[in-house]
Amino acid sequence: MTEGQDRGDGTRVVSAGRSGFGRALAGPMWSAAVWESADLDESRRRASGVRPGEFYARYSNPTVRAFEEAIAELEGAEDALAFGSGMGAISSVLLALCSAGDHVVASRQLYAGTSALLSGPMARLGVETTFVDGADAEAIVAAVIPGRTTVVFVESPSNPLLGVVDLEALGAIAGPFTVVDATFATPLGQRSLEFGVDLVVHSATKGISGHNDVTLGVVAGERELIEAVWAYSVLHGSVASPSDAQAALRGLRTLDVRLARQSATSLELARRLEGHPSVAAVHHPGLDSHPQAALAKSQMRSTGSMLAFEVSGGLDAARRVHDGLSLIRRATSLGGTETLICHPSSTTHVSLSEEDRRAIGVTDGLLRVSVGLEDVDDLWGDLSPLL
Ligand SMILES: Cc1ncc(COP(=O)(O)O)c(C=O)c1O
Repeated sequence: MTEGQDRGDGTRVVSAGRSGFGRALAGPMWSAAVWESADLDESRRRASGVRPGEFYARYSNPTVRAFEEAIAELEGAEDALAFGSGMGAISSVLLALCSAGDHVVASRQLYAGTSALLSGPMARLGVETTFVDGADAEAIVAAVIPGRTTVVFVESPSNPLLGVVDLEALGAIAGPFTVVDATFATPLGQRSLEFGVDLVVHSATKGISGHNDVTLGVVAGERELIEAVWAYSVLHGSVASPSDAQAALRGLRTLDVRLARQSATSLELARRLEGHPSVAAVHHPGLDSHPQAALAKSQMRSTGSMLAFEVSGGLDAARRVHDGLSLIRRATSLGGTETLICHPSSTTHVSLSEEDRRAIGVTDGLLRVSVGLEDVDDLWGDLSPLL
């Protein structure tokens, strides 16, 4: 366990990643892309070292490193590695760990970019993926082909229907590397690595930075594995920008208070929606009606900012709600200070075929909401007259 893991989450987010700050309360912004060496031996040492500081920014950057250390501390991980986006993290992890002929098991309920990566470029490079229902832990285990499956990749909670994967069952799988995308949970909402999962990835564009002004990804886990991903990542080049890393560190300091407020508002809205006659279904891991409510309760520390709901009346009804809002903003991201709504079948999951969308429950009447920091009654006042 990393030092300070027993402290409260509010304390941990304020304290994390400060080891290189000296006495400064905010870390310096190292915009440098290159550092000079004193002599040939030093040049060689830096060029052939693992994650060398002060060499070349694609290999490492001190401001990015501070963000990585903060995430490692929060995840209780030995180390972390940042990327230029969440997809940069996911593609680097998959390409670092898989070779032609390998097999991946993935939950079907994934961000569509991840599904597209697995069924497009990864398949083209000879890596086959079996997609299974993430709610069915036995199906995940059964899909593993001993000696051939190199990665089991899931998202929990999943985008956009807030499906929950049994992380203890995932962590118990021997053989392949197990990876969870915990973007919807953030490092505070779920301590994924405590369940024995090998790697946790996040789109830090979302709740970690929290203000819709950063594009960033991160992976955390055992140092040896993170270094293997790093060795590939310097070739892949999805490098985190130091200014984004600095903005994310600033955002991180308030993650605990933001998440507490967002979780409370999101659950309250979910309850109100559930009681509305024009709403056919509400998806929220904190509702008793969620099919995995008990599992969510046992493995999540906070049910988070996200909810999804299905309006009766399909596309026309969804369009009326989506287009009629004045406070809630129409945008596809999540985890920030503003409450956002999106229509997954037209946006986040538009690249899937209608059949694939139907298979994961992304219907034309489905709307996804990322709850921000506004007052719950104002949000309800915007939403409810349109239902
Ligand atoms: C669960 C999840 N993972 C990964 C990503 C990709 O992150 P990014 O947009 O930072 O590349 C997203 C984006 O919405 C997401 O929702």
